[in-house]
Amino acid sequence: MNESRKGAATGSTMSTGAPAASDRHSLTIGPDGPILLHDVHFLEQMAHFNREKVPERQPHAKGGGAFGVFETTADVSRYTKAALFQKGAKTELLLRFSTVAGEMGSPDTWRDVRGFSLKFYTSEGNYDLVGNNTPIFFVRDPMKFPHFIRSQKRLPDSGLRDNHMQWDFWTANPESAHQVTYLMGPRGLPRTWRQMNGYGSHTFMWINAAGEKFWVKYHFHTKQGMAFFSNEEAMAMSGKDADYHRRDLFDAIARGDFPSWTLSVQVMPYADAKTYRINPFDLTKTWPHNDYPLIEVGTMTLNRNPENFFAQIEQAAFSPGNLVPGIGLSPDKMLLGRAFAYNDAQRNRIGTNFHQLPVNRPKVPVNTYMFDGQMAYEHSGNKPVYAPNSGDRPWADVTGAVDDGWEADGEMVRSAYTLRPDDDDFTQPGILVREVFDDAERAALVEQVAGSLLGGVRSPVLERAFDYWKKIDPDVGRRIEEKVRAGAAPEPQAGMGEK
Ligand code: HEM
Repeated sequence: MNESRKGAATGSTMSTGAPAASDRHSLTIGPDGPILLHDVHFLEQMAHFNREKVPERQPHAKGGGAFGVFETTADVSRYTKAALFQKGAKTELLLRFSTVAGEMGSPDTWRDVRGFSLKFYTSEGNYDLVGNNTPIFFVRDPMKFPHFIRSQKRLPDSGLRDNHMQWDFWTANPESAHQVTYLMGPRGLPRTWRQMNGYGSHTFMWINAAGEKFWVKYHFHTKQGMAFFSNEEAMAMSGKDADYHRRDLFDAIARGDFPSWTLSVQVMPYADAKTYRINPFDLTKTWPHNDYPLIEVGTMTLNRNPENFFAQIEQAAFSPGNLVPGIGLSPDKMLLGRAFAYNDAQRNRIGTNFHQLPVNRPKVPVNTYMFDGQMAYEHSGNKPVYAPNSGDRPWADVTGAVDDGWEADGEMVRSAYTLRPDDDDFTQPGILVREVFDDAERAALVEQVAGSLLGGVRSPVLERAFDYWKKIDPDVGRRIEEKVRAGAAPEPQAGMGEK
């Protein structure tokens, strides 16, 4: 190639659009002389490079995603008026999968819960459902969340992950038992993102056109069939291809093999919540399907890869607080805490006006009174920037009871939820161990937990862990204790509960 070719219309440009001189040579005084400060193109490249990363997400840093469509195939209008859930509606969406505790470069196949974040670009604005591949969670008060995440991340001095710290937190917070059983069982190692289910996990409110309210839980069942890795397979894959899940999804979509999921909901009549034997807003519990069977809603298909990972996946901003008419929150304290946390994280992680980026922008007109700020791009021209105003710019004015509200009364307290008859922490994980896992899965659970405990968990946390497992299931607990006392468990799978 001709080294002296001049920058031209066929070459690159500066950020101003003017031709760039060279992407290979900085401007110097003679071939061996110093670089000149007025090489603006060079300075622009260097300075922008220093700023080309944004902070990774605090939890759920490692992930991947794709665009797709949701089609409502059933009539659920008696439960919700939300436009996206009216029969025949087709809604564009973005789905991001992730692990929770690992950093941006961590292996996809470490044992961990997986994130399942959805952004529906609906005709009434964006609706986000930011769930996991499990229907429950580790804690039920948002005050505990930062402590939980820190206990699963790294020690302050060595910067290493630490089993002792993980089990210390879990055993000191027995409400974690259900989610920990899920995590230590086969579902802690999904084979691919395509082969796992997704759950909204929390209880949400649906409101129909007549204003009637219902409580709902979302279940996305994979049409690819669930499949899991064994510890050995997952560990080998962590070394072989740290990005295995990201690659699998991207490659499948690129070859036209579009993964899909069926969405079903469990619906609880509004009044049942007051008297149901399990607190329906407790995120550590599922609703037995015998009481609230699944009702099919529609199908979700992923059919388009991102064109730019950073712009469309890294800068994607999901929040459980992003709702549309016909869908509301619930008194689940975790959900209410989350309604604040996400947009705040994104103002810090991406920037004040993160919602104006194409991936986050709704596909409907926006008339927000959030004004100016760093990187503001969209604006309302010279219309009034305040409300109420006597100009021609509309403003919102709901007064009185809200559509998606509920009644609350009482003294201000700091307290756990009031206990109901079936609200103990160990019954549901016990059912998971005895009735959902088979013999081989129970044996693998014993190996995994024992291996994890042998990876540096000390007294008194170790004894608390034996007690915790015996409360989940006496036999499994006894087997775990025996293995640990014999010191004979094999290597656990790395990740949450790693050595
Ligand atoms: C009070 C409890 C919680 C708090 C304060 C919290 C906070 C956060 C924050 C700050 C982020 C990073 C957001 C960003 O930078 O864009 C995040 C990500 C995420 N969280 Fe939570 N979280 C909580 C509980 C949960 C629960 C219960 C679930 C699932 C049921 C969940 C699922 C996710 C997912 C899937 C992501 C990744 C979002 C994405 O793909 O961009 N979180 N969380």
